[in-house]
Amino acid sequence: MARDIQDHYFKLAKKQGYHSRAAFKLIEIDDRKSILHKGDAVLDCGAAPGSWTQVVLERIGRRGRIVAVDLQPIMTAGEDRLQTMQGDFNLIEPSELLEFIAGRSAAEDAPPRRFDVLLSDMAPSTTGDRLIDHYGSIRLCEAVLDRAREVLRPGGRTAMKVFEGEAYPELLQRCKAEFKTVKGFRPKASRNESIEMFIVADGFRPPPTDAAH
Ligand SMILES: C[S@@+](CC[C@H](N)C(=O)[O-])C[C@H]1O[C@@H](n2cnc3c(N)ncnc32)[C@H](O)[C@@H]1O
Repeated sequence: MARDIQDHYFKLAKKQGYHSRAAFKLIEIDDRKSILHKGDAVLDCGAAPGSWTQVVLERIGRRGRIVAVDLQPIMTAGEDRLQTMQGDFNLIEPSELLEFIAGRSAAEDAPPRRFDVLLSDMAPSTTGDRLIDHYGSIRLCEAVLDRAREVLRPGGRTAMKVFEGEAYPELLQRCKAEFKTVKGFRPKASRNESIEMFIVADGFRPPPTDAAH
């Protein structure tokens, strides 16, 4: 039965022109939690092959913008609302990430625009050892939260993938300290045997030292 559901998403992705079945995870997250809005600036981390990027482009309207980053080449292209960057998310300077969405502030002396939404479907290269993979995933989430302080606007939203395990409650605690509302969410399109889930959070509250910048 579970395998039937996975085949269903695989076939549906092909039929609807998405690069992968992962598209349906973001579709379900957004349908349920409403994290993508018209005109949003979105940072999509771990974007390859590019199906989340496709979904974001469908949902942010003509005035929205998206920066998509991955170690691997991203197949979604040919959109003036999209900038793709190949590289390690941790090694790309915040100013580089923000450049594409800059210049849209009302006044010249206004602070640089930040992202409205920070997405991460990043996953470590899996080893098959659940504990190692779990901590690899936790490290990626911590890096996303560190980077949020520099690139996400106060009040902003996030959805990020995490492999569940012993450090998950601590990660959730950090999210609760930094966002107003935080929920764990497991989309139907996630493989049944997978330990992945998504933390969906709204109302980013940058720590005071960062808010002053
Ligand atoms: C599950 S795939 C993402 C699927 C994508 N959301 C889609 O819908 O097509 C996970 C991705 O995370 C990327 N990734 C892992 N660590 C990364 C890092 N440090 N920087 C950038 N991308 C990373 C991997 O290269 C891989 O392509």
